[in-house]
Amino acid sequence: MKNIKVHSVFRDYEVEFIEDLKGLVKTLNKNYKTHYLVDQGVWKFYKAKLEEVNKGNSFYPFEAVESKKTLEEVLNYVKFLLEKKVQKKDVIVVIGGGLVQDIGSFTAHVLKRGVEWVFIPTTLLAMADSCIGSKSGINVGKYKNQVGSFHPPSSIYIYSAFLKTLPRLIILDGIGEIIKHALLKGGKSYQSIKNNLKYLPKDIKKSEKVIYDSLLIKKEIVEEDELEKNIRRLLNYGHSFGHALEGYTKNATLHGVAVTIGMDMANYISMKRGFISQKEFAEISKFLRDYIPYKEFKIDDLDTYMEFLSRDKKVIGNELNAILCKGIGKIKIIKVKLNDQLKKELQNYLAYFSE
Ligand SMILES: NC(=O)c1ccc[n+]([C@@H]2O[C@H](COP(=O)([O-])OP(=O)(O)OC[C@H]3O[C@@H](n4cnc5c(N)ncnc54)[C@H](O)[C@@H]3O)[C@@H](O)[C@H]2O)c1
Ligand SMILES: [Zn+2]
Repeated sequence: MKNIKVHSVFRDYEVEFIEDLKGLVKTLNKNYKTHYLVDQGVWKFYKAKLEEVNKGNSFYPFEAVESKKTLEEVLNYVKFLLEKKVQKKDVIVVIGGGLVQDIGSFTAHVLKRGVEWVFIPTTLLAMADSCIGSKSGINVGKYKNQVGSFHPPSSIYIYSAFLKTLPRLIILDGIGEIIKHALLKGGKSYQSIKNNLKYLPKDIKKSEKVIYDSLLIKKEIVEEDELEKNIRRLLNYGHSFGHALEGYTKNATLHGVAVTIGMDMANYISMKRGFISQKEFAEISKFLRDYIPYKEFKIDDLDTYMEFLSRDKKVIGNELNAILCKGIGKIKIIKVKLNDQLKKELQNYLAYFSE
């Protein structure tokens, strides 16, 4: 797979697909004074391939759980690095999924007002989505991603063989965001992702093509609007309805799966309001449903669900700046009132889902 160059307002950087993980770590150790921040779960599986990590300047294993994505843990890591006599010209190498990425990226941003970092993503989400775009988010109390920064890595290396040990649910988590990219872009990219997705993660070449296509779509969006002033907001497609579902189910629904359901809901509303035909809705829904691990799901208390929806950051007054579908590749922001009409549409959607 070809390298992907990403233009950023902070610094340009590159994504490279690699096959020799051991060799990469060796080279990093040769070229920089390295500090490794490694997902504990990944370390467990890949100790042998990652043994050179021990030859870097420091090694910090991190447990990838949301309850640890906190400022306290960032501070612990900063203290650890200072004890290891970290210098401004050193490089933090992050090996893990989006969670460890957030800790590493934020630490690199604030430590000595900014040190360089390199990212080796290990989950599908991190490879196909979060590794580019420069963002980090740290949880504060029960509020997710409330503190953060923009600080892109200087290089990203994708070693797709990491996908082999990912549990299916975590794969589905990444697939939600990939399908979102496909629907945003449409055309050939949509077809390519749709065709190759079913071979993931067993077929490495097809998996890499999916990651490549997904990153190219995100690259185009973040290069145009890295700081999320306008078009980058479309990356929230499926997210308002999805976040409300995560909240309603007390986070029992994984984010990516909630986003997939959220896009299906948004499309259903789009159909009911005449933006897409029944045929178009059915086609996209069939594709989405292949990656929703439920045959049926219920929202028994729609009022409570609507209450979660009303707290979304895209709600102004009684109106949601909803991201709806006017066709594949035609995703638009359209105002939707949080009223009985919407409630009825959601009710009908739930009935449709469990048919
Ligand atoms: N900064 C961003 O732009 C951005 C974007 C999206 C999501 N995020 C954040 O990313 C997090 C979710 O990230 P994620 O979905 O990548 O998962 P994750 O980093 O939370 O990891 C999920 C689980 O998978 C394990 N794991 C990771 N790689 C593995 C591998 N190769 N084999 C086996 N197990 C492995 C981890 O140990 C963990 O238990 C959330 O905290 C979210 O807020 C950040
Ligand atoms: Zn998301």
